[in-house]
Amino acid sequence: MMLRSLLFVPADSEKKLAKVADSAADAVILDLEDSVSAARKAEARLMLADFFGSLERTEKTPRLIVRVNALDTGLTDDDLKSVVPLVPDAILLPKAGNGADLQDMSARIAVLEAESDIEDGLIKLHALMTETAGGLLNAATFSGKTSRLEALAWGGEDLAAAIGASSNRNETGAYTDVFRLARSLTLLTAADAGVDAIDTVFTNYKDEDGLKRECEAAVRDGFSGKMAIHPAQVPVINAAFTPPPGDVERAKTIIQLFEDAGPDAGVLSLDGKMIDRPHLRQAERIVRRAGLDPKSL
Ligand code: COA
Ligand code: MG
Repeated sequence: MMLRSLLFVPADSEKKLAKVADSAADAVILDLEDSVSAARKAEARLMLADFFGSLERTEKTPRLIVRVNALDTGLTDDDLKSVVPLVPDAILLPKAGNGADLQDMSARIAVLEAESDIEDGLIKLHALMTETAGGLLNAATFSGKTSRLEALAWGGEDLAAAIGASSNRNETGAYTDVFRLARSLTLLTAADAGVDAIDTVFTNYKDEDGLKRECEAAVRDGFSGKMAIHPAQVPVINAAFTPPPGDVERAKTIIQLFEDAGPDAGVLSLDGKMIDRPHLRQAERIVRRAGLDPKSL
C-alpha cells in the first residue's frame, strides 16, 4: 500500500467531493474538522454519507480517510457514529494529545465496528500528533498503543495558534525551531511505532517549485508521503515520492541478496560497498513506495 499523496477534501463541498473518484491521489482525507464551519458539521456528515452511498469503490479509488473532530470538541462520537458504518479505510484523529488518545479512539471505533458487523480492526487509524503543545511533549507515548495505527502526520498551523506564534516560518521561508522539532518528532515517533510518517501540507498551493523542494526534503528525511490541499499538488507529490526505477532495481537486488544469504546473514557486499541490515530496511521501504510487496518480489 502506497500513501504518497493524501488530498484534503472538505466534506461539505459537493463540487470537491465530486472530484474524489477520479483523483490521482493515493488517499483523500474527507474532512469534517477545520475546513467545515461549526454550523455545517451536521450537514457535512450527511453529505459524507451520501457520497459514500453513491461512490463506486474500485481498485482505482483513492483510499478514503475521514478526519473527525478532535476529542475535546464534543463532536467526535457523533462523527464516528455516522462515519464508521460507511467503512472508510481509515479515520484521522486531529490534535492527538498522547498515546491514550489513540487507545481511546481505537476502542470507540471497535465498539462501532462491532455494532455494524464490520471486521474488528478493519478501519485503520491515522493521527495528527503535533497540533497541540501536549502532543509534541508526549511524543514518546504514541507507539505501541493500538495495532490500528497506520500513519502519523504533523501539522503546523494549529500548533502556531497553540503556542502564540504569529508565523511558523522565518524571513527566509524556513520553518522555525518549534516546527522543525514537530517535524522531527513525527519522523522519530513514526519510526518508533513502525508506521508511516506523513509530511504536513504546503499551504501556498500556487507555488509548485516550493512544493517540489519541500517534497524532496521530505523524501530525503524519511517521510512516506505528504498531505495536499489542492488537486494541482497531487502529481507533484506523487512524482517526488515515487522512487526512480534505478533505485527500485537496486533495492530489489539488496532484498534478493539477503534472501539468498539466509536469516543469519549480517553484512554483505554489493558493487564493492558494504550492505547491512539498515540497508535492507531501506531497500524494503523503497520497494514498498514503488507499490511492490518486499515479501513477494
Ligand atoms: N479537493 C477536491 N477538489 C478541489 C480541491 C480539493 N481540496 N481544491 C480545489 N478543488 C477543485 C475546485 O472545486 C475547482 O473545481 P472546478 O474546476 O470544477 O471549479 C478546481 O479544483 C480548481 O480549484 P481552484 O479554483 O484553483 O481553487 P479554489 O479557489 O476552488 O479552492 C481552496 C482553493 C484552498 C479553498 C481549496 O483548494 C480547498 O478547499 N482545499 C482544501 C482545504 C482543506 O481541506 N483544509 C483543511 C486541511 S489544512
Ligand atoms: Mg487544523
